[in-house]
Amino acid sequence: MTSDRKMALGLFVEGLGHHIAAWRDPGVDPRSRQSLDHFTEIALTAERGRFDFIFTADTFAMFGPDDPHQWARSTVASRHEPFTLMAALAARTERIGLVLTATTTYYEPMHVARMFASLDQLSGGRAGWNIVTSNAPAEAANFGRNAHPEAEERYARAAEFVEVVTGLWDSWDDDALVADQALGRYVDPDKLHRLNHRGAHFSVRGPLTMPRSPQGRPVLVQAGQSGPGRTLSARHGEIIFSIQPDVTQATAYRAEIRATATGLGRDHSGIKVMPGVLIVAGATRTEAEDRYARLQRLIPEDLGVSLVSGLFGVDLSSYDLDARFAGVPLDRALSHGKAIHDLALREGLTLRELYLKVAGQRGHRVVVGDARDVADDLESWFSAGACDGFNIMPPTFPGGLDAIVEHVVPELRRRGLVARDYAGRTLRDHLGLARPPSRWASA
Ligand SMILES: Cc1cc2nc3c(=O)[nH]c(=O)nc-3n(C[C@H](O)[C@H](O)[C@H](O)COP(=O)(O)O)c2cc1C
Repeated sequence: MTSDRKMALGLFVEGLGHHIAAWRDPGVDPRSRQSLDHFTEIALTAERGRFDFIFTADTFAMFGPDDPHQWARSTVASRHEPFTLMAALAARTERIGLVLTATTTYYEPMHVARMFASLDQLSGGRAGWNIVTSNAPAEAANFGRNAHPEAEERYARAAEFVEVVTGLWDSWDDDALVADQALGRYVDPDKLHRLNHRGAHFSVRGPLTMPRSPQGRPVLVQAGQSGPGRTLSARHGEIIFSIQPDVTQATAYRAEIRATATGLGRDHSGIKVMPGVLIVAGATRTEAEDRYARLQRLIPEDLGVSLVSGLFGVDLSSYDLDARFAGVPLDRALSHGKAIHDLALREGLTLRELYLKVAGQRGHRVVVGDARDVADDLESWFSAGACDGFNIMPPTFPGGLDAIVEHVVPELRRRGLVARDYAGRTLRDHLGLARPPSRWASA
């Protein structure tokens, strides 16, 4: 059955793959994470599959708990600075959107506004900003602090930060660049605006040193799960990433985001809720299952346990791996950890079963199968109204992505669920998102 509503497809790029043991897979070159050719191959494959965008996460410290033991066993220790990586990929790709993370807790708005404005210009309108307030506790120690500010304070700063950044992006009217060589007039100063922002966290005069970018504003992306996080998503998010264990919860989450956005005066058709899903695809179901089983066998036991310990904020190394898990206090857990804890109790898992379920994919859902299996799953979520598309997480790069593009994408196309080609040049065009007017447009 075909319909006009199309699934948005994002590719969550994680160096060597999303599976925690990806780097040990014989099909993966464990040193390729440093190489631009590796990321170029990924981006071009995704572009060939007509993904709307690629996305990279970021932290200013190793992902997860500050645990040298984990650095030794997984690839969390290695990560490119995302603006540098995406700028390089902008030059090697033509159409695919480039979404990257910048934290409002440790940057200043002027940095972020400028870097994204440049990326949007240089890529011809393909930039998107994943707005985070910093997730990894270890980042604080790299900025002269013992701990992050409390979540409430981080989100208050984030809200003001986004106001300033969007204001700076608007600080040149669309027609401010005159560039009239005969008249000798480069810009029209009446069409440049000082922001003159003075708030609780920032004082920023403006204007930006850059004409308004092709998208007007790069696409705003958010993934808050807490109360203040969801409010920020509903107020500003155009793409919203989430971690959803099942279709019922995902549907409720999307409905809540849409209702909150409507209450804030937004048109919710401009919001793409995109839960993450780790897809292990193969030419046949058996091939996909074998690929997944091979990866699962490569997870070291102690790494599995320490990952779950990190998520719960509790050391589980002395727990019996094969006894039914009875739960732990969660006052130091990440919000991501709470969802996983609920899952363990709901399904009566042992610690081993739990780490095998979550270690590989960091709490995201796993779908393993051939093209029809995977397409059936994605279609059932999409048609239930649980999402507007998916943030797709291949288990390995490049092989895990190749299998998705080779098998799953053609099946989604055949069903009329995804667009066959890009609708235009910019990320907004791909996603059907309007180009936002400048805040000075009607002044
Ligand atoms: C797909 C996805 C990507 C994320 N990327 C990052 C990231 O790059 N850096 C980061 O600090 N947090 C990242 N997060 C965490 C979120 O920004 C957010 O902190 C988390 O979902 C918890 O919500 P809360 O901040 O409202 O508690 C990501 C979350 C998801 C679901």
